[in-house]
Amino acid sequence: MHVLLAASELHPYSKTGGLADAVGSLGRALARSGVRVTVVTPFYRGMASRMGPVTGTPWRFDLLLGGEWVEGEFMRVREESGMEVWFVRNDPFFDRPGLYNEGQHDYADNAARFLFLARAALLVARHAAVPVEVVHAHDWQVGMLPLLVHHARIAGGWHGAPRTLFTIHNLAYQGGFASQAWLLSGLPWSWYHLESAAHGGGVNFLKAGLCLADALSTVSPRYAREICTPEFGCGLDGVLRRREHDLCGILNGVDYAEWNTTRNPALPHAYDSADLRGKALNKAALQREMGLAEDASVPLFGNVSRLTDQKGCDLLAQALERMLPGERMQFALLGSGDPVLERSFRSLAARFPGRVAARIGFDPGLAHRIEAASDFYVMPSRFEPCGLNQLYSLRYGAIPVVRATGGLADSVVDARDDAASATGIHFHEASVTALHWAMRKALALHASPEAMEHYRLNGMNRDFSWETQAREYVRLYGEILHGP
Ligand code: ADP
Ligand code: GLC
Repeated sequence: MHVLLAASELHPYSKTGGLADAVGSLGRALARSGVRVTVVTPFYRGMASRMGPVTGTPWRFDLLLGGEWVEGEFMRVREESGMEVWFVRNDPFFDRPGLYNEGQHDYADNAARFLFLARAALLVARHAAVPVEVVHAHDWQVGMLPLLVHHARIAGGWHGAPRTLFTIHNLAYQGGFASQAWLLSGLPWSWYHLESAAHGGGVNFLKAGLCLADALSTVSPRYAREICTPEFGCGLDGVLRRREHDLCGILNGVDYAEWNTTRNPALPHAYDSADLRGKALNKAALQREMGLAEDASVPLFGNVSRLTDQKGCDLLAQALERMLPGERMQFALLGSGDPVLERSFRSLAARFPGRVAARIGFDPGLAHRIEAASDFYVMPSRFEPCGLNQLYSLRYGAIPVVRATGGLADSVVDARDDAASATGIHFHEASVTALHWAMRKALALHASPEAMEHYRLNGMNRDFSWETQAREYVRLYGEILHGP
């Protein structure tokens, strides 16, 4: 089977969040299992140093984009796993400081940049030496790709066109633009309607994928159900309800070759579930690194996150305001995003020195060290399609305290549901009071070493490897191609 994955981020070349991890790990796991995998993704600034040698001569192409010919180039890299990556190069579009924005401002030409990507992916699919059977597009940036394939199949005489799967990693980001953006697609206006990309008077890239992919998936079974409701549907729940039978949820996995506690260059001390002494040493090392008071017995909460409304970081800052004056605890944060949230965490760190540390920025190594050092990992998300950090923290022995939503509810077991297999603490309401309650519950748990060990070992021994999850995708591709 030959599958083409299209995405705007691919770890380790480019990353702003979990999309990069998910697409990279899925592609490699598929390739290792014998699927032929081609990934199409942009060539952003600074990527050359992270890439292996480019094979063959670059393939140049031109696309008529909104009345103007735009030149591009594919650079191919074949990875050890067998996965082949086709980097789409167009320096005016992608050689920029950010992937999508600078500061808080989205690039004004994002519609053109990502339609260029989607149309380049269509070229690769159409001209592949070995025919592509499934085109698997991820998130709004390539939401138009299933529509482009559908159009080529129906109106462009592409017999044997591949089937398409569209995966929603986050319904909140939709790629909404003025209707003029349609011109960039190269498709006739007769294809612009409410059953394709038209939405709220403009073009919606994500909706095109939702309407026209042969099948839809998202990154946890619970989120698949949630997005069909008005509460989580971000205005597209009606479209999703109509396609409910074509929609499924497959939980993301973890790349344990990277996210492990025994052979990890980012961690000063190795440990595993049989010997946790290294975890205590990592805690002391992190306390020194981040300027927290060095104390083995104080409960340490950690969080690594995009600072956005989705992640509930405002609830976290307020819960900490309530708790810090009276409780014996520490908190370590790594994140960046909303300037208001950045300020609240900086202010907490300034007012509670030695007890709160806030590192504003993006630092993959520190992300590993926070997971390894923490006793508890807090994720109070308002919604969470899957969430990777709680999966990492399970393996790292940081007990997750999570809001019971989306992939968090699907991957963390609360004692009220199953005491023997409990791995973390759930709370339900998206409120400061509910989070405060859950964090106090964590403090009570910390007071009992046996209970801590029970949760920790349950979590560390869970297996969320991509090998298992990739098999679910292979099954789904098979269904899309041959029926259930
Ligand atoms: P999302 O994709 O919604 O941001 P996920 O939990 O799926 O959430 O994935 C987030 C990924 O991004 C994780 O690999 C996490 O470690 C990483 N990450 C988020 N913020 C930072 C940061 N400031 N520094 C380093 N890594 C980060
Ligand atoms: C999104 C979601 C996150 C998910 C990630 C990878 O960014 O917010 O929950 O884990 O994609 O699928």
